[in-house]
Amino acid sequence: MKLSIASKVLLACLSVAATACSPSSPDATGVATATDTGEAAAPPARIVPLPASVETRPGELAIAKAVAVELPADAPMATRALEELLDTLALARDGAAPVRVRLALEDDAALGEEGYRLEVGEGVALVARTDIGLLHAVQSLRQLLPPTAQPEYRLPHLSIADAPAYPWRGLSLDVARSFMPVEYLEKHIDRMAMFKMNRLHLHLSDDQGWRMEIKRYPKLVEIGGASAVKGGRSGWYTQEQLEHLVAYAQARGITIVPEIDMPGHVQAMLASYNELACDDEDNLSTYDGLEVGFSVLCLSKPDVVYPFVRNVLEEVLAVFPSQQIHIGGDEIKDPLYGEFVGRAAAMVKEMGRTPIVWEEGSVADTSPDMLLQLWNDGYDIAPAVAEGHPLILSPCTYFYLDHGNYAGQPQTYDWCRKEGVPIARTYSFDPSKFETAVGVEAALWTELVHDDAAADNRLWPRLAAVSEVAWTPMAQRDYAGFVQRMGALRPHLDAQGIAYHPEPDLGWE
Ligand code: ACM
Repeated sequence: MKLSIASKVLLACLSVAATACSPSSPDATGVATATDTGEAAAPPARIVPLPASVETRPGELAIAKAVAVELPADAPMATRALEELLDTLALARDGAAPVRVRLALEDDAALGEEGYRLEVGEGVALVARTDIGLLHAVQSLRQLLPPTAQPEYRLPHLSIADAPAYPWRGLSLDVARSFMPVEYLEKHIDRMAMFKMNRLHLHLSDDQGWRMEIKRYPKLVEIGGASAVKGGRSGWYTQEQLEHLVAYAQARGITIVPEIDMPGHVQAMLASYNELACDDEDNLSTYDGLEVGFSVLCLSKPDVVYPFVRNVLEEVLAVFPSQQIHIGGDEIKDPLYGEFVGRAAAMVKEMGRTPIVWEEGSVADTSPDMLLQLWNDGYDIAPAVAEGHPLILSPCTYFYLDHGNYAGQPQTYDWCRKEGVPIARTYSFDPSKFETAVGVEAALWTELVHDDAAADNRLWPRLAAVSEVAWTPMAQRDYAGFVQRMGALRPHLDAQGIAYHPEPDLGWE
């Protein structure tokens, strides 16, 4: 499915102020947009991530007050999203309304697992093979419409056929250095869903904090949960809260992937259960600094460490149904490191799940289905690719969103890239260079991100660029088009209350 040049030009036209494509004035594309539905201009086709194919036709569909809705019986995610959209836009459901919105599941193999078609003509038709495909169609429809209730809506007649390039479109949130409240995570899940992202990786443990209730080891949250990076937020999630979040995310097409970082980045664990440290270790208090790489589980005490790891993982897996489970593995030097990663990964597999380890885990002897998460651009990942390990791509010069939106942004890191990670750079990443890539994942580390507003500022609008890198093949992407479409979506971000970075590239200064 290729986007034709004419469609690209038209999309650009539709992305700018609506009057540029007004029904009464022929637009720069030469495509007639005449309509008999009145004065108002067509809304912009401002879809991010860019769909595989968009064809617009002359004419508009006007919608006011109510629509007739046809829903399949077994598409709960899409149904929920459509109902929320209609409520937001104050559109009633009325079987006698002149415009019909039809959602249908069709067993058409060409649609793939997540693909969909969206047609606007006399009515609106959304077709997919799966509930998740239909959910994506609803998100596209949502972006074509304004974010708040209006007296009338106008949609250009169009046909969209769409499917993602990669199945893994993620974000990792470090809730360990600085805690993030459940309410923020819920809001964040809604925002990710709008951009068709589908993996929320929660970094639940690190030196500065432990965030998940483990019933067998209550001191993990009593001690580790009370700690945080200096200036950051402490706190922890009950298992009930996490189960709620898992269900909340699932209903929005997002899988929460838990990470327990081991065998390094464990000071909060050691401070909670001193026996996990080697007997000569005298640094057993909680930690609120910025160093990394100093704490390690005592791997020469396997009878203490491995039962602990197994018991913790059992509770983690009972709460998180994600097929993939992250066991960390970054930034630690220990003679028994490879053995640890091999044993912990094997445990996850025995429990019926698939382990993920940061890139360093590639040195361990593991089953080739273990995913590796690349985070240093220059790391030699080729041998692991040759072994067949699937890759989650998070190279820090593109995807570490704790780095500045611009060089020198206050309260941001620059250890990975002095110039920061501007949105244009994030957008320019080409995952296709990595043969076994399953997708991309941005990361927000929180040593310097201590509240919701700072998190919003670092995440948006860059996360929308991440969504397009993961969804749309490199050959179809172009930054100028993204800038226009994303620029036009600003009211949607405003309506969600996002305290985004006022990105000059998008005209948001
Ligand atoms: C990492 O940034 N240490 C994965």
